[in-house]
Amino acid sequence: MEVNRFLSAQHANSDSQYENRLRPQGFDEYIGQKKVVDNIKVMVESANIRNQAMDHCLLSGPPGLGKTSLAMLIAQSLGSELHLISGPAIEKKGDLAAILTNLQPRDVLFIDEIHRMHISVEEILYSAMEDFRLDIVIGQGPSARTMQIDVSPFTLVGATTKSGLLSNPLRTRFMGNLHFDYYEAEDLAKIIKNNASKLEIGMDEVAGDHIARCARGTPRIANRVLRRVRDFALVDGVNEISEEQVHKSLDLMEIDFLGLDRMDRKILQVIEEYYGGGPVGIEALCATLGEDRSTIEDVFEPYLLKEGFLIRTPRGRELSEKGREHIQTSLKNRD
Ligand SMILES: Nc1ncnc2c1ncn2[C@@H]1O[C@H](COP(=O)(O)OP(=O)(O)O)[C@@H](O)[C@H]1O
Ligand SMILES: [Mg+2]
Repeated sequence: MEVNRFLSAQHANSDSQYENRLRPQGFDEYIGQKKVVDNIKVMVESANIRNQAMDHCLLSGPPGLGKTSLAMLIAQSLGSELHLISGPAIEKKGDLAAILTNLQPRDVLFIDEIHRMHISVEEILYSAMEDFRLDIVIGQGPSARTMQIDVSPFTLVGATTKSGLLSNPLRTRFMGNLHFDYYEAEDLAKIIKNNASKLEIGMDEVAGDHIARCARGTPRIANRVLRRVRDFALVDGVNEISEEQVHKSLDLMEIDFLGLDRMDRKILQVIEEYYGGGPVGIEALCATLGEDRSTIEDVFEPYLLKEGFLIRTPRGRELSEKGREHIQTSLKNRD
């Protein structure tokens, strides 16, 4: 499988090197997300039997849960090439048209953050997805005419942290709409164990389980903690990661025993201290936090809601009993 990249700022961070090294190399290494994987496997197998392109599918869920990794496995299992692009990075219709017309039959086009694609660019996709055809308007006014260009039958895999923001015409063109959930600690523990051996470091089971419980249900965070712990082990000159090193790393990364990080706690704290525990509207909350609304809504809030630290009410966000207790304990420990 070859991978083509197109202007993807998101991938240019320091994590990406490790991310690629730790990516599952086959479905056997892709742990958890059973529903999603079962669906995808059937779609892939059917496409292989028909020797046609796989149906388009949309992968949605919070960052770091394995959407990009799954897209890579899809292309690999189809025996086709993967083209990775980031939705907001495509500025002109022509850029997307060029990418589409260069696809080979059965190729996979992965568009990350597809909900942030510019609407005029997005419109190009409609006929491409449905009829494998581009409708290009040439000229303006009365002399304008439409030209049609064929596109090879391809598979679009869209990834989004917010499927609710997808436009209707786009959403309805996806056959599969698959939602990723946060991982259970047992699944994370398996991923951590595999990745520790990829990083060629030993780890006792208790240490692995501990990372799994504090990784916010997210493999990407588990990998980050693992890297930090690995650094500690190297500096301490030992071959096997101990629970103590896990503790030290989590402390340094400001991750607490329930897996909440600094920003998670800050959200709970602001609601408690500025808004008497809520309810508070999302706009007001983000203004006080000085954070972008989509970051709060897509990255932080889903986990806090899922774990029951936060409750969503018609009048805004409110701390639960669990959230209030947790923030009071951590404020006490800080003093
Ligand atoms: N199901 C999984 N099994 C094993 N490792 C995973 C899985 N999902 C994610 N990972 C790990 O987490 C990292 C981040 O996953 P990625 O696919 O980039 O997430 P997303 O695209 O959803 O943000 C990967 O590099 C991989 O190491
Ligand atoms: Mg990704």
